Amino acid sequence: MMKPIENQQIDHQQYVKKSKIIVLALVFAMAMTVVTFAQVSKKGAPEIVLKGGSRGDIHFPHRTHQDTLVDCKICHDMFPQISGIIEDLKSKGKLEKQQVMNHCRGCHKNMISAGKKAGPTACNKCHGK
Ligand code: HEC
Ligand code: HEC
Ligand code: HEC
Repeated sequence: MMKPIENQQIDHQQYVKKSKIIVLALVFAMAMTVVTFAQVSKKGAPEIVLKGGSRGDIHFPHRTHQDTLVDCKICHDMFPQISGIIEDLKSKGKLEKQQVMNHCRGCHKNMISAGKKAGPTACNKCHGK
Protein backbone atom coordinates (compact mmCIF):
# COMPACT_ATOMS: atom_id res chain seq x y z
CA MET A 1 0.00 0.00 0.00
CA MET A 2 1.30 3.43 -0.94
CA LYS A 3 1.34 6.13 1.75
CA PRO A 4 -0.39 9.43 0.97
CA ILE A 5 1.96 11.92 -0.71
CA GLU A 6 2.29 14.28 2.28
CA ASN A 7 3.40 11.38 4.59
CA GLN A 8 6.10 10.37 2.11
CA GLN A 9 7.47 13.92 2.25
CA ILE A 10 7.55 13.82 6.06
CA ASP A 11 9.39 10.45 5.89
CA HIS A 12 11.94 12.01 3.58
CA GLN A 13 12.46 15.02 5.84
CA GLN A 14 12.95 12.74 8.85
CA TYR A 15 15.41 10.64 6.85
CA VAL A 16 17.47 13.72 5.98
CA LYS A 17 17.37 14.85 9.64
CA LYS A 18 18.52 11.41 10.90
CA SER A 19 21.35 11.24 8.34
CA LYS A 20 22.59 14.65 9.46
CA ILE A 21 22.59 13.52 13.11
CA ILE A 22 24.51 10.35 12.23
CA VAL A 23 27.10 12.29 10.23
CA LEU A 24 27.52 14.78 13.11
CA ALA A 25 27.90 11.92 15.61
CA LEU A 26 30.58 10.31 13.44
CA VAL A 27 32.51 13.55 13.07
CA PHE A 28 32.31 14.08 16.86
CA ALA A 29 33.51 10.52 17.56
CA MET A 30 36.47 10.98 15.21
CA ALA A 31 37.40 14.32 16.80
CA MET A 32 37.29 12.74 20.29
CA THR A 33 39.58 9.91 19.15
CA VAL A 34 42.15 12.42 17.89
CA VAL A 35 41.96 14.48 21.13
CA THR A 36 42.26 11.38 23.35
CA PHE A 37 45.22 10.08 21.35
CA ALA A 38 46.98 13.45 21.54
CA GLN A 39 46.51 13.53 25.34
CA VAL A 40 47.84 9.98 25.77
CA SER A 41 50.94 10.58 23.63
CA LYS A 42 51.62 13.95 25.32
CA LYS A 43 51.84 12.17 28.68
CA GLY A 44 54.81 10.14 27.42
CA ALA A 45 55.65 6.54 28.22
CA PRO A 46 54.10 4.90 31.32
CA GLU A 47 57.47 3.29 32.19
CA ILE A 48 60.86 4.84 31.41
CA VAL A 49 64.29 3.21 31.74
CA LEU A 50 66.84 5.78 32.91
CA LYS A 51 70.61 5.34 32.73
CA GLY A 52 72.24 5.07 36.17
CA GLY A 53 75.96 4.87 35.32
CA SER A 54 77.97 2.27 37.26
CA ARG A 55 74.94 1.40 39.45
CA GLY A 56 72.85 0.27 36.48
CA ASP A 57 69.52 1.25 34.94
CA ILE A 58 66.55 2.63 36.85
CA HIS A 59 63.03 1.48 35.99
CA PHE A 60 61.02 4.64 36.53
CA PRO A 61 57.22 4.35 36.82
CA HIS A 62 56.36 7.62 35.00
CA ARG A 63 52.57 7.19 34.94
CA THR A 64 52.41 6.34 38.66
CA HIS A 65 54.17 9.64 39.41
CA GLN A 66 51.91 11.60 37.04
CA ASP A 67 48.85 10.12 38.75
CA THR A 68 50.18 10.62 42.30
CA LEU A 69 51.89 14.01 41.93
CA VAL A 70 49.65 15.50 39.17
CA ASP A 71 51.87 18.58 38.63
CA CYS A 72 54.28 17.88 35.75
CA LYS A 73 56.50 20.84 36.76
CA ILE A 74 57.67 19.00 39.90
CA CYS A 75 60.11 17.24 37.55
CA HIS A 76 59.82 19.02 34.22
CA ASP A 77 60.98 22.37 35.61
CA MET A 78 64.33 20.59 35.90
CA PHE A 79 64.31 19.05 32.37
CA PRO A 80 61.90 19.23 29.41
CA GLN A 81 59.42 16.55 28.33
CA ILE A 82 61.77 14.88 25.83
CA SER A 83 62.96 11.27 25.77
CA GLY A 84 66.68 10.94 26.63
CA ILE A 85 66.97 14.59 27.71
CA ILE A 86 68.53 13.87 31.13
CA GLU A 87 71.52 12.09 29.55
CA ASP A 88 71.73 14.83 26.91
CA LEU A 89 71.81 17.68 29.48
CA LYS A 90 74.27 15.77 31.69
CA SER A 91 76.65 15.31 28.74
CA LYS A 92 76.50 19.08 28.08
CA GLY A 93 77.12 19.89 31.74
CA LYS A 94 73.68 21.53 32.06
CA LEU A 95 72.67 18.98 34.70
CA GLU A 96 75.10 17.71 37.32
CA LYS A 97 75.56 13.95 37.72
CA GLN A 98 72.98 12.69 40.26
CA GLN A 99 71.16 16.06 40.27
CA VAL A 100 67.93 14.45 39.05
CA MET A 101 68.59 11.49 41.33
CA ASN A 102 68.86 13.77 44.37
CA HIS A 103 65.55 15.34 43.38
CA CYS A 104 63.92 11.87 43.14
CA ARG A 105 65.47 10.55 46.33
CA GLY A 106 64.97 13.85 48.19
CA CYS A 107 61.23 13.74 47.61
CA HIS A 108 61.01 10.10 48.71
CA LYS A 109 63.00 10.94 51.88
CA ASN A 110 60.77 13.91 52.72
CA MET A 111 57.60 11.95 52.19
CA ILE A 112 58.84 9.04 54.33
CA SER A 113 59.74 11.53 57.11
CA ALA A 114 56.22 12.95 56.80
CA GLY A 115 54.86 9.42 57.24
CA LYS A 116 53.50 9.27 53.70
CA LYS A 117 53.65 6.56 51.06
CA ALA A 118 56.76 7.18 48.93
CA GLY A 119 59.29 5.56 46.65
CA PRO A 120 62.66 3.97 47.53
CA THR A 121 65.73 5.68 49.02
CA ALA A 122 68.08 2.65 49.01
CA CYS A 123 70.48 2.53 46.04
CA ASN A 124 69.60 -0.98 44.91
CA LYS A 125 65.84 -0.32 45.07
CA CYS A 126 66.12 2.16 42.19
CA HIS A 127 69.26 0.90 40.46
CA GLY A 128 69.71 -2.52 38.92
CA LYS A 129 73.07 -2.99 40.71
C1 HEC B 1 58.51 12.48 39.14
C2 HEC B 1 59.05 13.11 37.94
C3 HEC B 1 58.16 13.33 36.75
C4 HEC B 1 56.91 13.88 36.72
C5 HEC B 1 56.07 14.40 37.86
C6 HEC B 1 56.52 13.91 35.32
N1 HEC B 1 57.53 13.40 34.55
FE1 HEC B 1 57.54 13.28 32.51
N2 HEC B 1 59.44 12.50 32.57
C7 HEC B 1 60.14 12.21 33.71
C8 HEC B 1 61.40 11.58 33.34
C9 HEC B 1 62.47 11.12 34.30
C10 HEC B 1 61.42 11.50 31.94
C11 HEC B 1 62.51 10.89 31.04
C12 HEC B 1 63.52 11.91 30.63
C13 HEC B 1 64.65 11.26 29.85
O1 HEC B 1 64.41 10.28 29.12
O2 HEC B 1 65.80 11.74 29.94
C14 HEC B 1 60.16 12.09 31.47
C15 HEC B 1 59.80 12.19 30.15
C16 HEC B 1 58.60 12.73 29.69
C17 HEC B 1 58.22 12.82 28.29
C18 HEC B 1 59.07 12.42 27.09
C19 HEC B 1 59.30 10.96 27.05
C20 HEC B 1 58.18 10.20 26.42
O3 HEC B 1 57.91 9.08 26.88
O4 HEC B 1 57.55 10.69 25.48
C21 HEC B 1 56.97 13.36 28.24
C22 HEC B 1 56.15 13.66 27.01
C23 HEC B 1 56.57 13.61 29.61
N3 HEC B 1 57.59 13.22 30.46
C24 HEC B 1 55.37 14.19 29.99
C25 HEC B 1 54.98 14.43 31.31
C26 HEC B 1 53.72 15.06 31.68
C27 HEC B 1 52.66 15.54 30.70
C28 HEC B 1 53.70 15.10 33.05
C29 HEC B 1 52.59 15.58 33.95
C30 HEC B 1 51.27 15.00 33.74
C31 HEC B 1 54.95 14.51 33.53
N4 HEC B 1 55.69 14.11 32.45
C32 HEC B 1 55.31 14.38 34.87
C33 HEC B 1 59.77 12.51 34.99
C34 HEC B 1 58.56 13.05 35.38
C1 HEC C 1 64.95 7.24 43.79
C2 HEC C 1 65.78 6.52 42.88
C3 HEC C 1 67.27 6.50 43.13
C4 HEC C 1 67.92 6.12 44.27
C5 HEC C 1 67.33 5.68 45.60
C6 HEC C 1 69.32 6.19 43.98
N1 HEC C 1 69.52 6.63 42.69
FE1 HEC C 1 71.31 6.88 41.75
N2 HEC C 1 70.36 7.62 40.12
C7 HEC C 1 69.00 7.72 39.97
C8 HEC C 1 68.72 8.38 38.71
C9 HEC C 1 67.34 8.73 38.18
C10 HEC C 1 69.95 8.64 38.09
C11 HEC C 1 70.21 9.31 36.72
C12 HEC C 1 70.03 10.81 36.78
C13 HEC C 1 71.11 11.57 37.48
O1 HEC C 1 72.32 11.31 37.31
O2 HEC C 1 70.74 12.47 38.30
C14 HEC C 1 70.97 8.13 38.99
C15 HEC C 1 72.35 8.16 38.75
C16 HEC C 1 73.30 7.59 39.53
C17 HEC C 1 74.70 7.42 39.17
C18 HEC C 1 75.33 7.83 37.85
C19 HEC C 1 75.75 9.27 37.81
C20 HEC C 1 76.63 9.53 36.57
O3 HEC C 1 76.16 10.16 35.63
O4 HEC C 1 77.75 9.06 36.57
C21 HEC C 1 75.31 6.82 40.23
C22 HEC C 1 76.77 6.44 40.32
C23 HEC C 1 74.32 6.61 41.26
N3 HEC C 1 73.11 7.08 40.78
C24 HEC C 1 74.55 6.06 42.49
C25 HEC C 1 73.61 5.90 43.49
C26 HEC C 1 73.91 5.47 44.86
C27 HEC C 1 75.29 5.13 45.38
C28 HEC C 1 72.72 5.44 45.53
C29 HEC C 1 72.47 5.10 46.99
C30 HEC C 1 73.12 5.99 47.95
C31 HEC C 1 71.67 5.83 44.59
N4 HEC C 1 72.27 6.11 43.39
C32 HEC C 1 70.32 5.88 44.90
C33 HEC C 1 68.05 7.29 40.86
C34 HEC C 1 68.28 6.83 42.13
C1 HEC D 1 57.77 15.04 44.56
C2 HEC D 1 57.90 13.66 44.96
C3 HEC D 1 58.54 12.62 44.07
C4 HEC D 1 59.53 12.78 43.12
C5 HEC D 1 60.21 14.06 42.67
C6 HEC D 1 59.83 11.45 42.64
N1 HEC D 1 59.06 10.52 43.26
FE1 HEC D 1 59.19 8.47 43.04
N2 HEC D 1 57.59 8.25 44.22
C7 HEC D 1 56.90 9.26 44.86
C8 HEC D 1 55.73 8.71 45.52
C9 HEC D 1 54.69 9.48 46.33
C10 HEC D 1 55.75 7.31 45.24
C11 HEC D 1 54.72 6.28 45.68
C12 HEC D 1 53.69 6.24 44.58
C13 HEC D 1 52.64 5.21 44.78
O1 HEC D 1 52.98 4.02 45.00
O2 HEC D 1 51.47 5.57 44.65
C14 HEC D 1 56.94 7.06 44.44
C15 HEC D 1 57.33 5.80 44.01
C16 HEC D 1 58.49 5.52 43.30
C17 HEC D 1 58.98 4.20 42.96
C18 HEC D 1 58.35 2.89 43.39
C19 HEC D 1 57.16 2.56 42.54
C20 HEC D 1 56.53 1.23 42.94
O3 HEC D 1 55.83 0.70 42.08
O4 HEC D 1 56.73 0.77 44.05
C21 HEC D 1 60.13 4.36 42.22
C22 HEC D 1 61.01 3.28 41.64
C23 HEC D 1 60.35 5.78 42.12
N3 HEC D 1 59.35 6.45 42.79
C24 HEC D 1 61.41 6.36 41.42
C25 HEC D 1 61.54 7.73 41.22
C26 HEC D 1 62.55 8.31 40.35
C27 HEC D 1 63.59 7.56 39.57
C28 HEC D 1 62.33 9.68 40.39
C29 HEC D 1 63.07 10.77 39.67
C30 HEC D 1 63.17 10.68 38.22
C31 HEC D 1 61.22 9.91 41.31
N4 HEC D 1 60.78 8.72 41.79
C32 HEC D 1 60.79 11.18 41.67
C33 HEC D 1 57.25 10.59 44.92
C34 HEC D 1 58.23 11.18 44.13
